[in-house]
Amino acid sequence: MTDLTADLAAALDRTLDPVPAGRLAPVVERLIRDYRSGTVPSSPILRSADDAAAYAAYRMPATYAAVLDVLDRAAARVPDPATLLDAGGGTGAAVWAAAQVWPALRRATVLEATEPARALGRRLAADAGSATVRDARWEAAVLDTAPRLPEADLVTACYLLGELTGPVREALVDAAARAARVVAVVEPGTPAGYARVLAARDRLLAAGMTVVAPCPHDGACPITGDDWCHFAVRVPRTSRHRVLKAGSLGHEDEKFSYVVAVRQADGDAAAPAPGRIVRHPATRKGLVTLRVCEAGGALRDTPVPRSRNELYRSARDAAWGDPWPPEGHAP
Ligand SMILES: C[S@@+](CC[C@H](N)C(=O)[O-])C[C@H]1O[C@@H](n2cnc3c(N)ncnc32)[C@H](O)[C@@H]1O
Repeated sequence: MTDLTADLAAALDRTLDPVPAGRLAPVVERLIRDYRSGTVPSSPILRSADDAAAYAAYRMPATYAAVLDVLDRAAARVPDPATLLDAGGGTGAAVWAAAQVWPALRRATVLEATEPARALGRRLAADAGSATVRDARWEAAVLDTAPRLPEADLVTACYLLGELTGPVREALVDAAARAARVVAVVEPGTPAGYARVLAARDRLLAAGMTVVAPCPHDGACPITGDDWCHFAVRVPRTSRHRVLKAGSLGHEDEKFSYVVAVRQADGDAAAPAPGRIVRHPATRKGLVTLRVCEAGGALRDTPVPRSRNELYRSARDAAWGDPWPPEGHAP
């Protein structure tokens, strides 16, 4: 089976290495400013081939890693999709991630507003080891308040909602709920990204879907006040990335918020995790404390002392974002 993570890294190298870093660095600076502005852009952010190349160089490895983590965690809890529709797919991160998680994925369609992003996405995918990635359809589409989404088993909207006005955002989530069995929404792991995920979660529930990740329940989110539900994935930095973002660390931690919802059909057994670890486990000698969002809707700091033997060993191995307790242990 092809490792699409390595394959994507190779495709990025092949495509971006010939582009001088000196040309992309100022573009990266502008993109960072635009994405951090917190305002809905009035015109597309990725306007030129260099914009798309800069995005692919400094953001795509991280958005791919976040979406991969989300889909990987959801995979045990949703029916395997045969078809994917990726809204606002940019350079195609979700297509690569979905094909990595579900090698039997047959068809992927990307709806993307800007030609430079579509063109680069196509180019990156051209030599992928997955036929589904290679044959992905890239469709020109500007999502508005009446989006027409073709049916698909899985609809993804990753790092998109923040670029849409409120009414377009709501219409997209509603249309995704109508078009798909499974909807995955991923946003930056900031308070604003979390708020957009929470609003999308409400609409998916109102449309009759069930949340399978990260929440272990369909009730109100217990993370309130100045805290927000988010997770993180470690992304190795390429030398190109270090040059473009003037960083020296060999990795960065991509923080993200997400929700995955499923439309239950007769006979389906899709179920959320019994609980979810929503913060780095706190470990001291003989005791691991896990902050767990529980199936009953409560948020609880759960101490697991060494005297719990096997459960303690599991707690020591557990990570932020993992389900809890492990299979076979009563919650
Ligand atoms: C931040 S990028 C995310 C790209 C990709 N989903 C990822 O995770 O890497 C947002 C993408 O959404 C596209 N986009 C923004 N508004 C859109 C709209 N109304 N219709 C279609 N695409 C849109 C942008 O052109 C851009 O490629």
